Amino acid sequence: MDKKLVVTAALPYANGDLHVGHAISTYIPADIYVRFKRLKGYDVVFVCGSDDHGTPIEVSALKAGRSPLEHARYYHDRHAEDFRLLNISFDNYHYTHSEENRELTESFLIKAREGGFIYTREVEQYYCERDRKFLPDRFVVGTCPYCGAENQFSDLCEKCGRVIEPGKILNPKCAVCGSTPIKRRSLHFFFKLSAFREKLYSWLSSASSRDFPKEVVNYVLNWLQAGLEDWDITREDYWGFKLPFKEASDNQYVYVWWDAPIGYIASTVNYCRRAGRDWETYWKDPSSKVVHFIGKDIVYHHFIFWPAMLLAAGFPLPGKYVVNGYLTLEGEKMSKSRGWLIPLRYLLERYPSDYLRYYACFKAANSTRDSDFSLREFQRKVNNELADNIGNYAHRVLVLIHRFFDGIVPNPSCFDQDDERFKAFIEKAPSELEPIYEEADFTKVGDRILQAFSEANSYLNLKEPWRKAKQNVEEAATAIYLSVNFLRDAMVAMYPITPTLSSRVLSFIHVDGDLQLSWDSLGRFLVKPGQRIARPQPVVKKIIDAEIEEDLERLRRGFLEEEPG
Ligand code: 2FM
Ligand code: ZN
Repeated sequence: MDKKLVVTAALPYANGDLHVGHAISTYIPADIYVRFKRLKGYDVVFVCGSDDHGTPIEVSALKAGRSPLEHARYYHDRHAEDFRLLNISFDNYHYTHSEENRELTESFLIKAREGGFIYTREVEQYYCERDRKFLPDRFVVGTCPYCGAENQFSDLCEKCGRVIEPGKILNPKCAVCGSTPIKRRSLHFFFKLSAFREKLYSWLSSASSRDFPKEVVNYVLNWLQAGLEDWDITREDYWGFKLPFKEASDNQYVYVWWDAPIGYIASTVNYCRRAGRDWETYWKDPSSKVVHFIGKDIVYHHFIFWPAMLLAAGFPLPGKYVVNGYLTLEGEKMSKSRGWLIPLRYLLERYPSDYLRYYACFKAANSTRDSDFSLREFQRKVNNELADNIGNYAHRVLVLIHRFFDGIVPNPSCFDQDDERFKAFIEKAPSELEPIYEEADFTKVGDRILQAFSEANSYLNLKEPWRKAKQNVEEAATAIYLSVNFLRDAMVAMYPITPTLSSRVLSFIHVDGDLQLSWDSLGRFLVKPGQRIARPQPVVKKIIDAEIEEDLERLRRGFLEEEPG
């Protein structure tokens, strides 16, 4: 079997900095999964990119005094740097305002039209006579018809959270000049979503629960049962791609949610062209599987719009979804306007990326349940678990080899019952960890790894090789031989979560050589007697209280976005 995968992580909008919520709900889980599959020997293309188009980006660019394209590139570059600091192993971080995406977006539209899935209909919309401009989505502000909150975008009330239907906003005003818009009619292109209801229904109702989160599938099936509205994919006077149809007028563009997911393919195309590979085998071959990592707010787009688009364009459907819930911060909803969030860059400049990756793994259970980020809990998990249980164990085992065996892995010559038990534990650990990695339930993966270290710590404490080395060298030799093999395996198994820490410890063990980063190498006692071990250094530095106090203080002041200069 060919083992090919395309893994995608939701494309972040290029109009603001990433915060810990983005990292924990989407990018860290996707990267953990990708690194795991690569360890398993899969040929993975891991793609992402900036989501460049749409009114939120245009509005934000206007405020910053940039063109939408300059603005999108500015944030593209900032995000790319954040991802590099976070050690996200994308093969490509591209952008949706690209030639590849333009071509594909057009070909999806043309195929859909040829298939009879695009039709036109007149619609009424806001138009600003002063700016001589149609006002898509966020270009109209007004009073929420539900809760009376003023100064809300015409499509969504941020105060009460309700979606506002087109034309329902009270006291509408043009967001650019403040004048009252009029309504104007124009011809719009619609995608016949309703035509895909049965196909989507049968696809999702027979989907394996291993690859499709059950709770999500259930509510998507409910939406499908309730029926689908056709989808208006047209926007006037908009930042995006032109509609490729001859009846489209010059100011008509493609709605961002049409070209954004196609950006996954476009990013793959861009990568494959440079790497001399064939993108179509990844997206079209039955031997390849497409895996999407998303947050729960974009389920509708990925389980309904996107698969229908793929069907209309003759592509196979996605093979797996991982969906995570929202993240609250210190028990409260994050808020951009109040600055109640922690920018990713802030955290990554203060702490090693593995700290956040380790903590995130316990918050990413492939479940739509929300979880909470707490700085004190972050500190506790890093200090008590990563430093004390894991880092300390690594240091202890390696130091013992130096103290009692001159830095050479000793030869185990006898195994008592406890040794046999620990040996069997090492042998079967990988087969127990593997299915939970595959489920992308990283909370379980993290718990299992912690359990394993507590077994290993108990075994070491029971065997007391520091005492035995003086009385019964043979017993100490076996304990140390098994422990260093456990450590090596644990570091490979944790590599998807903490790649920097793992590589560092592995480099002490495999002084001159090949780290054998593969899942198949686990449980096979690859650290042989006679092997030289480097003199270790402590691997995890604890977070001190003052650092966390400072973070909390900074958070209380609010991380308000500065206007980029
Ligand atoms: O919700 C968002 O942040 C979107 N920018 C996600 C797009 S994902 C994909 F479909 F492009
Ligand atoms: Zn409201």
